[in-house]
Amino acid sequence: MIKFGALRREDMPLILQWRNQTPEAWRDPRPTTITQQYDWFDKVVSHNPNGRYWGIYLDDKLVGQVELTSIIWEYGTAEIGLIINIDYWSNGIGSAAVKFALEMGFNYLGLQTIYGESYKCAAADFWEKRAKKWGGYTTTLPLRKRTYDGELWDILYFSWARDDWNILNDR
Ligand SMILES: CC(C)(COP(=O)(O)OP(=O)(O)OC[C@H]1O[C@@H](n2cnc3c(N)ncnc32)[C@H](O)[C@@H]1OP(=O)(O)O)[C@@H](O)C(=O)NCCC(=O)NCCS
Repeated sequence: MIKFGALRREDMPLILQWRNQTPEAWRDPRPTTITQQYDWFDKVVSHNPNGRYWGIYLDDKLVGQVELTSIIWEYGTAEIGLIINIDYWSNGIGSAAVKFALEMGFNYLGLQTIYGESYKCAAADFWEKRAKKWGGYTTTLPLRKRTYDGELWDILYFSWARDDWNILNDR
């Protein structure tokens, strides 16, 4: 059974390992050291009032992490971020985490818009499908590309609006 809970400091080595396995997915793909990862937990996860971070647990084992960041309370906006342990991909855990974050953002944090970006060389198809299914919006821009492995890749911009998601979601 999938559960969402507080991230723990001891989760950092695993999250770092997953992150370093998928450089194609990140806006800032610089390799990260364990010191930087603990620093992120201490300074950002524990203290940033404009972000919310959850561990994703399957039968009490950490299998991923999901977050709402860059929250601007005045505008009701936040960016969604997500990572799942590669050994557990394609089991529906990522989808469950997106639903959870939308529900938390819209029904508990009072957000109006939850958005993100993803690259065609990474998980753009994943987000495109979730957006279609749950009343979201997507677009790409002609001159905005991401370089990875010597190629230029489309950037998918996606978002959900509170009202549309509430009407179309399949809870
Ligand atoms: C993207 C990610 C979170 C998906 O997690 P997941 O647990 O595999 O998600 P699900 O099992 O719910 O996936 C469902 C669908 O996405 C597809 N999918 C999964 N990973 C994908 C990827 N990297 N690229 C394209 N499609 C992907 C699956 O084939 C499946 O397709 P379906 O809906 O036709 O059945 C996971 O692949 C991941 O952590 N990737 C690395 C980090 C990343 O890209 N994060 C997003 C940053 S914007």
